[in-house]
Amino acid sequence: MYTNLKNSVLVTALEELVGTIESDACSILASGKVVGEGIDYHKSYGFVPFNVTSFIETMVAVVRHIRKQGCNPWDFTFLDAGCGIGTKLILAESMGFPAIGLEIDQKMIRRAKRQYGIRSLKVSKGRIFRSARTPVIVNQDVLKHHYDHYGVIFFYCPFRNDELESEFEQRVYEQMLPGSYVIPRMHQSELPQSIKPIDNRSRVYWKPKRRRS
Ligand SMILES: C[S@@+](CC[C@H](N)C(=O)[O-])C[C@H]1O[C@@H](n2cnc3c(N)ncnc32)[C@H](O)[C@@H]1O
Repeated sequence: MYTNLKNSVLVTALEELVGTIESDACSILASGKVVGEGIDYHKSYGFVPFNVTSFIETMVAVVRHIRKQGCNPWDFTFLDAGCGIGTKLILAESMGFPAIGLEIDQKMIRRAKRQYGIRSLKVSKGRIFRSARTPVIVNQDVLKHHYDHYGVIFFYCPFRNDELESEFEQRVYEQMLPGSYVIPRMHQSELPQSIKPIDNRSRVYWKPKRRRS
């Protein structure tokens, strides 16, 4: 079903539809008519969406790896840390993952609600557990979050500031569970020894579970 994604009519249609929605949200930001709410642009990037086709291809590699381990996507909660208007949550959910987004900019969260009907929670720090099937966005700083209960963690440049980006990435790598995956698009800091690529193509990494001796 997912072979030859680039030529698939469905993916092209999806790319166009999502592209319109996302570029509209970006142009509002860029035009200066709406500035973000609760975001410091000296430290963070605003909403710049990651390419949809590449995202789907990457998630297909994750699903294949999960299935090879004899598991099911439903048992792996997907997180987009800095999720913007939440498109990647909708896509991950459609592939069978419970999905959570973190977003600091309240204007993006309101847009996610309007555009996709995604619910939001306000939590200042800590963990959020999810069992229902609909995605949710949490209005929380990615630097204050705990990453020890997710199955798949995705992020795409939340920070403009290199030190903050490294601090955030190291927090994710240290806290993520053995057996979980990370998709660090455009990552800045070095990956620790405990994090390995799942293959030599997809830029997906995981923290393998330690074998009992
Ligand atoms: C480059 S965009 C990526 C959007 C989305 N992940 C995607 O790939 O389509 C980065 C997002 O991170 C959010 N962000 C930046 N700093 C953040 C922080 N400290 N905590 C939570 N979200 C943050 C921004 O508001 C923006 O929506």
